Amino acid sequence: MRILVTGGAGYVGSVVTQQCVQAGHQVTVFDNLVQGHREAVTAGAELVVGDTGDGALVREVLSSRGIEAVCHLAAYTIVSQSMREPGLYYNQNLVRSLSLLDAMVETGVNRIVFSSTAAVFGEPVRIPIDETHPLDPINPYGEAKLMFERVLARYAQIHGARYAMFRYFNACGASSELGEDHNPETHIIPLIFRAAVGQTGPFQIFGDDYTTPDGTAVRDYVHVIDLARAHLIALERLDTLGNQAFNLGSGEGISVRELIDATARIIGRDVPHVIRTRREGDPKVLRAASDRARQVLGWEPVHSTIEEIIGSAWAWFERHPHGYRS
Ligand SMILES: NC(=O)c1ccc[n+]([C@@H]2O[C@H](COP(=O)([O-])OP(=O)(O)OC[C@H]3O[C@@H](n4cnc5c(N)ncnc54)[C@H](O)[C@@H]3O)[C@@H](O)[C@H]2O)c1
Repeated sequence: MRILVTGGAGYVGSVVTQQCVQAGHQVTVFDNLVQGHREAVTAGAELVVGDTGDGALVREVLSSRGIEAVCHLAAYTIVSQSMREPGLYYNQNLVRSLSLLDAMVETGVNRIVFSSTAAVFGEPVRIPIDETHPLDPINPYGEAKLMFERVLARYAQIHGARYAMFRYFNACGASSELGEDHNPETHIIPLIFRAAVGQTGPFQIFGDDYTTPDGTAVRDYVHVIDLARAHLIALERLDTLGNQAFNLGSGEGISVRELIDATARIIGRDVPHVIRTRREGDPKVLRAASDRARQVLGWEPVHSTIEEIIGSAWAWFERHPHGYRS
């Protein structure tokens, strides 16, 4: 299949691209490189540097490459930034995604796998979170993603498209070549590593007074290789999946303290840390129920043990202590 991966030079998109290429698909990565890295684009995939908001360029790429399906991962992803600059997030994650969708309609490309997020649920009213949990985002990041989910469902109804929407919980881990490198970095595992090797000050734990067993927030960590595999399964079966959203998580809840302790044990270093007050909008517990993905896609999170997540991320970090070169 000929696939366009928007955001394919970014963290999750690079692994999606790698798996699609390894499965024999022809992949064009479309990324404006605001966060992405040339070095993260797997050999065998083409890179087009461009913005999803550039309708003319997207149309040209979709038609000239004969694209049959789009994996749409391009987005701005920092929740706290979305609270300071909401317009940026509605523009980047809703308006530009809409522009991509219009370009797909105009060029007759009608298959899409969309990267949504657990942030569409907001503060959980029950745990674990399945797809029927109320949708009530508490920040512009989650809200723009939810708005695009709704636009996509409506476009599919009117234009006859096939889609799958994946609401990831915390993506983490690395493949042997591809890892996590954002600027600024806001994700917990790279931040723990940086503190452990002295690249930064102590790791900051935001809140140790939640009503959780050790007082710190609990999250669901899912390996990026598992996430990417779900995309591959969906892409290959989009015509029969029945247009729906899937929650993708390991189903295990791990607290910040447990993650720090496991990291210290696995990498054999202390992790200096300090306690800060809670951040506004940080739920106490987020944990996925991924039964629908298991039943409909036959998906299993087989790499999402804490050992494999931290071990793979650490192996990549040791080879790339300052991230990608390009
Ligand atoms: N990483 C996570 O834990 C997580 C969790 C839930 C959902 N998601 C979603 O998964 C997707 C990928 O996340 P990630 O962590 O890999 O982020 P990332 O920042 O590493 O990757 C996003 C990529 O999109 C590119 N991009 C951004 N805006 C663009 C635009 N307008 N046009 C073209 N390229 C653009 C960036 O340069 C970057 O390479 C995002 O949609 C994110 O919302 C991620």
